[in-house]
Amino acid sequence: MYILAPSILSADFSKLGEDVKTVSDAGAQYIHLDVMDGAFVPSISFGMPVISSLRKTTDRVFDVHMMVEEPGRYAADLKAAGADLLCVHQEACRHLDRTINQIKELGMKVGVALNPATPVETLSCVLDQVDMILLMSVNPGFGGQKFIPYTLDKIRKLRAMLNERGLQTDIQVDGGVGLGNVRELMDAGANVFVAGSAVYKNDAAANVKAFLEIFHEEANK
Ligand code: DX5
Ligand code: ZN
Repeated sequence: MYILAPSILSADFSKLGEDVKTVSDAGAQYIHLDVMDGAFVPSISFGMPVISSLRKTTDRVFDVHMMVEEPGRYAADLKAAGADLLCVHQEACRHLDRTINQIKELGMKVGVALNPATPVETLSCVLDQVDMILLMSVNPGFGGQKFIPYTLDKIRKLRAMLNERGLQTDIQVDGGVGLGNVRELMDAGANVFVAGSAVYKNDAAANVKAFLEIFHEEANK
């Protein structure tokens, strides 16, 4: 199944609830929430109070992307704020196995994210422990950056590794994803697509529908 996860980082923060409702009503399955701590990544975004306020606006899956050092410290608070799927960076967890288990024990789905320069083989020991793998296709920290072309090969490689083990784990791509390159990413083996600037520029509802139309076409090929 193909899933669209609009990133609210590119939304208008003065009317965030409304902007979340727009993409949710248009049919986006996930809401992608980028939490940044100013340490793992240069920028600071938002945290638990914003997530729990937004929880009232939609029942879509809250896909929380933690760009935070040692994100396990916040897992329980994020569960309480309404996170459904918690994604942590391999590069930010000293004890990744422990953090994965902690998230599962709290009853959330778990994802592990990799920066562009981190090879997919680093996840070989935990592949069957996670619900989703997030491949960053830009350096995390900011919206509106250009897709890094070599990450396409990482998608292919990871899908092949998963297939070899008979796993149908979700592969999420985040950064520089738009209507112009999403088909190529689908062909490579990704099935969950984060899009910030591509969704929130001009008409967000129309952009969501355009993505979903492509998903529909590809699924019925
Ligand atoms: C970047 C964030 C992304 C970002 C994507 O660090 O993880 O989710 O919002 O933005 P676009 O789609 O504009 O590249
Ligand atoms: Zn993200």
